[in-house]
Amino acid sequence: MEIIPQSTSIGAEIRGLDLSLGLTDSQYAELNQAFLEYQVIFLRNQQLTPQQYMDFASWFGLPREYLFADGIDGFPFITEIVKTETETESFGSFWHSDSTYIERPPKATMLYARQVPPRGGDTLFADMYAAYQALSPGMQNMLESLNAVNSASVFPRDEDIYQEVKSKNSESKDQQAIHPVIRTHDETGRKSLYVNGIHTLCFEGMTREESQPILNMLYERVQKPEYIFRLQWQKDTLAIWDNRCTQHYATNDYHGYRRVMHRIIIEGASPC
Ligand code: SIN
Repeated sequence: MEIIPQSTSIGAEIRGLDLSLGLTDSQYAELNQAFLEYQVIFLRNQQLTPQQYMDFASWFGLPREYLFADGIDGFPFITEIVKTETETESFGSFWHSDSTYIERPPKATMLYARQVPPRGGDTLFADMYAAYQALSPGMQNMLESLNAVNSASVFPRDEDIYQEVKSKNSESKDQQAIHPVIRTHDETGRKSLYVNGIHTLCFEGMTREESQPILNMLYERVQKPEYIFRLQWQKDTLAIWDNRCTQHYATNDYHGYRRVMHRIIIEGASPC
């Protein structure tokens, strides 16, 4: 197995593994080490059946259902993320970490590219360890004493625009969970920034108006080019990212083309 870092801190390509053959314990250990170190890892040219994709995902933990969409036929944990030729909105085109409005947000998300546009449709990933480390000690201390309220409906258009993806449980759009603003990774022990622009409503015990100036300052930092790795998808690329210490953004620059991803989320622990 070859591990090829893509930037100073985030992103690595893994070469020399054919996931359709399954993994050995030592291959998984090496892969998981790369996942923890580089936060996003990807493999090109993987030919997997849905069952083989599930088998691979299960090495990382328990796959779980996505609250707002059914899975593909026969595979409730594989959600199809699709933007059609006629849609102009795309799912996930805002900086975010997945499902922070639930008590135990996913530790990891996987996307397996089934159909990609001829150009565009890249996904950007940002390193939230780096975003935390770059804050002054005073700001780090203040944020470490705060929790944030996360909601499924912070972004006002969220419920309406993804007709192709979000098809069920619209009554859960007000679901909320309170999580620390700075979380400590349950495997690496490192601290990272854990608020995001589409799910974080406000700091606990403060109004949205009071919280927003500080949240906006933090969101600007999330977008610093130094913290970002950009993944250019090809058909059959499979990526897995660590939702505990990254945010991601699906670029929406390919109107008129179809993009289809198969997504699996892996259950995580309560952030602390
Ligand atoms: C997501 O936000 O989970 C989807 C990202 C993508 O489609 O690139």
